[in-house]
Amino acid sequence: MAGKVDALYFFLVAVSAFFVIVIAAFVIYFSIRYRRREHGEVGTKVVPLLALEIAWTIIPLGLGLVMFVWGAQIYFNQARPPAETLDIYVVGKQWMWKFQHLDGRREINELHVPVGRAVRLTGTSEDVIHSFFVPAFRLKADVIPGRYTTLWFNATKAGRYHLFCAEYCGTKHSGMVGTVVVMEPNEYQAWLAGGGGGAGSLASQGQKLFQDLACITCHRADGQGRGPVLEGVFGSRVSLNSGQVVVADEAYLRESILSPSAKIVAGFQPLMPTFQGLVSEEQLLALIEYVKSLKGLAPGQPAADTPGGPAPGRTTPARGPQSTSERQRQNPKK
Ligand code: CUA
Repeated sequence: MAGKVDALYFFLVAVSAFFVIVIAAFVIYFSIRYRRREHGEVGTKVVPLLALEIAWTIIPLGLGLVMFVWGAQIYFNQARPPAETLDIYVVGKQWMWKFQHLDGRREINELHVPVGRAVRLTGTSEDVIHSFFVPAFRLKADVIPGRYTTLWFNATKAGRYHLFCAEYCGTKHSGMVGTVVVMEPNEYQAWLAGGGGGAGSLASQGQKLFQDLACITCHRADGQGRGPVLEGVFGSRVSLNSGQVVVADEAYLRESILSPSAKIVAGFQPLMPTFQGLVSEEQLLALIEYVKSLKGLAPGQPAADTPGGPAPGRTTPARGPQSTSERQRQNPKK
């Protein structure tokens, strides 16, 4: 990716340099060639050449379109993570970068990743806007409070790379730096194994929270609770009371925990209390990861609500087909 970004960058520089030189040369040449030679001299009227006018309109247009198409290709490539990624969460905070691996391991201002593997980062901020910037990867994106930003990279060379915050975020902004450590796969495995993941995987931490916060009393897997069944909900299309259909992505889950009444699943009452202020950004990530880990029912198994039919006056949200092997991810159109 870095090579592609650089190629476009150098193309832009080369085109700009070429025109700067050509235009400057003509300015100098004309100012000498057509200088005023005697006092009171009047310039002659110039009739513009149509061919020349067309040429200097069409050529820059073509060049501009080349830059646009080329840039758009790179942009789309950067904006769309591949299907198979190693997922890591990032939380920016005054003034540090916190990383949360799915196995439960946490890091501050250091991020360990394996070489040659697509890594997808989902980032947010606890306080103000920060910008996650790894110059060596040509990777930069703002992390914004209340939102999830997705970015991805595939490191091609092992080593240590600078990580910066590239958005002024307070007095110690300049100290909000870190290191991305890219390791050979075997070293990475050793590093992973050496992690004292006493707290268990992120999903299991989320499961514990799910019980501690009593989410489980309403969101029951058997469909008999007062809240929607969450098994298989992640990545599926959810019909709302408003008639809208939304894709259950991270942002939707987050909103449903913090502002439950914003989007009510069709057939349900707005009964759920808000958890705003009760769960931290990191606990939210754990809860989301837990919900993601709840797969849909295996084929052949009866649907949760079939034994006695759906409870009266309530419908169960539509569940999309969910692959049970791979985490299914749908990129919402932005
Ligand atoms: Cu965070 Cu600047």
